[in-house]
Amino acid sequence: MDIKDLSVIILAAGKGTRMKSSQPKVLHQIFGKPMIYYILKTCLRLRPKNIFTVIGYKSELVKSYIEKNFPDIITILQEEQLGTGHAVSITKKFKAKMGRDIIVLAGDCPLLTNKTLEKLINKKHKTKSDASLVSADMADPKGYGRIIKDSGGNVKEIVEEADASGKQKLITEINTSMYCFDKNTLFELITKIDSDNAQNEYYLTDAIKKVVLKGGKVASHKVADFWEVFGINDRAQLAKAEKLMKSKHNQKLMKEGVTIRDPQNCYIDPEAEIANDVVIEPNCFINGKTIIKKNCKIGPFCQITGSSIGEGTEINASIIIGSKIGKNNIIGPYSYISPNTVTGNKVKIGRFCEVKKAKIAAGSKVFHLSYMGDTEIGSGVNVGASCVTVNYDGFSKHKTIIENDVSIGADTILIAPVRVKRGSVIAAGSVITGDVSKDSLAGEGEKQI
Ligand code: UD1
Ligand code: MG
Repeated sequence: MDIKDLSVIILAAGKGTRMKSSQPKVLHQIFGKPMIYYILKTCLRLRPKNIFTVIGYKSELVKSYIEKNFPDIITILQEEQLGTGHAVSITKKFKAKMGRDIIVLAGDCPLLTNKTLEKLINKKHKTKSDASLVSADMADPKGYGRIIKDSGGNVKEIVEEADASGKQKLITEINTSMYCFDKNTLFELITKIDSDNAQNEYYLTDAIKKVVLKGGKVASHKVADFWEVFGINDRAQLAKAEKLMKSKHNQKLMKEGVTIRDPQNCYIDPEAEIANDVVIEPNCFINGKTIIKKNCKIGPFCQITGSSIGEGTEINASIIIGSKIGKNNIIGPYSYISPNTVTGNKVKIGRFCEVKKAKIAAGSKVFHLSYMGDTEIGSGVNVGASCVTVNYDGFSKHKTIIENDVSIGADTILIAPVRVKRGSVIAAGSVITGDVSKDSLAGEGEKQI
């Protein structure tokens, strides 16, 4: 797709008073990512010339998040938050860099899709208007700006709740704070608005009125689904937005052939990839860029973060972070697999085990109450119940290497660095302090040679 003759201005300078937080509103998280992440991603999908974000309250926090995660996006500081109109007016210094169409959005609408923004732009062009806006019908429009239209259905103005008459308050078509303006019209009018209103703010909504008064035309695109343009002002709305994002994503996955037994209680990150014929049992959290291949059974009670899970694997009541699990593994119940673990096919890690930074090759088992940290385990290995790799000597971490076809008896302590060579057998209850040679039998009290 071509880069459009389009720029986007995102307003994110407000404190978000109703969040009652020391964090700026747009950094509050949904699925582990600040809400501004979603709007920026949506805007990038439009392929505009550039995106500007107006920041203000705790600007250094928002700026550093944007710089780190979206380096092409330009931040502009609004020192004093004098209103949405003022926020747009300070972007005028970048006018020469901007495209012919300017989309203006609030940073607190994470559910917005690029399809709606495409429709907003098309509406402006098709109706040959100077501006277009997204509106929505709301059963309870309290708190929102109301759209006032003329008899021909054209937008005349937007009246804020605080300035609305009793009759105007009955209007259920609301302003969503999403606009597409003609660049020259916007910057000509934005400096002409005043703060003569109930909140003594410079309202961006007044620019709409000014377009009409100048003889221009403003079109509206009404969304069918109000939730898409749902703005977050408080914590209850934050929870609602996440619930909605979750529900939409779960519906999509189910349509694609994933079984989710209790979609209300499964949190699957929109970035995760789940193949068809995966079954997800209740109370699962699948976070970040997790990939789950076909025919896996996940849950109940799993947390899987930034990991990939091979075909046919079953995971029950366990936590997996930053790891790569092979095909047909059986994991859990109650296992904790922490970053950089890689398993081969048909590995079993189960029942109260912790595995950290381990490589476990095909067909090996760590099945009961064990800790394997900084460990490499070959194929066909059996680790008995309650075995521990002692990987930390108080100063630094050391590695345990267990070669192919080793059998380790229950209750064995392996003090790293240590190598247990191929085919050897360790007797139950041993403390192994040195390397175990190939095909040998080692045990407590024996000298390992
Ligand atoms: C705004 C609209 C209202 C609309 C509603 C939709 C105005 C005057 N009103 O009201 O018609 O129904 O959104 O959610 O525009 N911001 C700045 N700088 C400022 C003030 C605000 O960047 O000086 C940012 C905020 O961070 C926020 C956005 O602008 O992301 C909207 O501000 P907010 O205070 O939430 O406006 P609403 O009262 O919700
Ligand atoms: Mg708002």
